Amino acid sequence: MHTSGQNGHHRTFAAVTGASSGIGYELALCCARNGFDLLVAADQSTIYDAAETFRAYDVAVDAVEADLATIEGVDRLYVATRERRVDLLFANAGHGLGAAFLDQDFARARHLIDTNITGTLYLIHKIGRDMRERGHGRILITGSIAGYAPGAYSAVYNGSKAFIDSFSFALRAELKDSGVTVTCLMPGATETNFFRRAEMVDTETGQSQKDSPADVARIGFEAMMRGDGDIVSGWKNKVISTVANLVPSAVLAEQYGKMAEPGSGIRK
Ligand SMILES: NC(=O)c1ccc[n+]([C@@H]2O[C@H](COP(=O)([O-])OP(=O)(O)OC[C@H]3O[C@@H](n4cnc5c(N)ncnc54)[C@H](OP(=O)(O)O)[C@@H]3O)[C@@H](O)[C@H]2O)c1
Repeated sequence: MHTSGQNGHHRTFAAVTGASSGIGYELALCCARNGFDLLVAADQSTIYDAAETFRAYDVAVDAVEADLATIEGVDRLYVATRERRVDLLFANAGHGLGAAFLDQDFARARHLIDTNITGTLYLIHKIGRDMRERGHGRILITGSIAGYAPGAYSAVYNGSKAFIDSFSFALRAELKDSGVTVTCLMPGATETNFFRRAEMVDTETGQSQKDSPADVARIGFEAMMRGDGDIVSGWKNKVISTVANLVPSAVLAEQYGKMAEPGSGIRK
């Protein structure tokens, strides 16, 4: 077992993907405030600025700039653990993509799938195996309440989160007696770079009042530390996800589309 820290005691080591902004940045802050060492990753060099901020909490921080949509990118992140045992994995990196599916650039739609699904699963597969072998670890996966509803004008994203939400519950069941917990954080609309990056700023959802990423991250962090299976952040989102379970998919897709259609936020 790898140990570190001044006295040779094991310090908690957390890996957070998508830690350069939004929910992932706040999740990494929760870790830093708790005195956990960090390995943080994102696709652009802004991850190094974020790492500097986390270091102010007197924890060891390594940062990796890698496209986690690729096998090589995930491999690079894994190598950067330097065989130190990861106690907490926050598989959070992800992005959306607005517009009607047939109007989307397929390369971008594929990048979404490769990031939100393939890269996320590959990382969990690697680190999850190590955790299972040790009989110890916690995994938080950032899903979404979008996974409850097929979403016109966000079809690929919502599908990717339906996958992730579903996968998370299944993995948790498989790891039931292993000492490894899996928690699915399902936020609703949150004030991050998400809508800009997905080119959904002009949609009704993009223009709506959103949750604070700090609140969402704190709720997810606490649920993970308790070992809960899932957490929908915020009462409004709890209502939405409960209602979504009762409404037929065809209706959900159309309703969602009204809020996600390009221009829907500036028509009113
Ligand atoms: N905001 C919402 O309304 C909302 C709601 C429900 C769920 N979520 C989920 O929350 C998670 C975090 O998103 P956010 O809202 O915090 O958005 P954000 O502010 O855009 O943060 C996304 C983070 O993921 C990283 N990332 C995205 N694609 C990546 C890739 N291919 N490789 C490496 N890093 C990548 C980004 O880094 P770079 O900038 O360097 O690419 C950034 O650090 C996502 O999984 C998202 O789907 C968001």
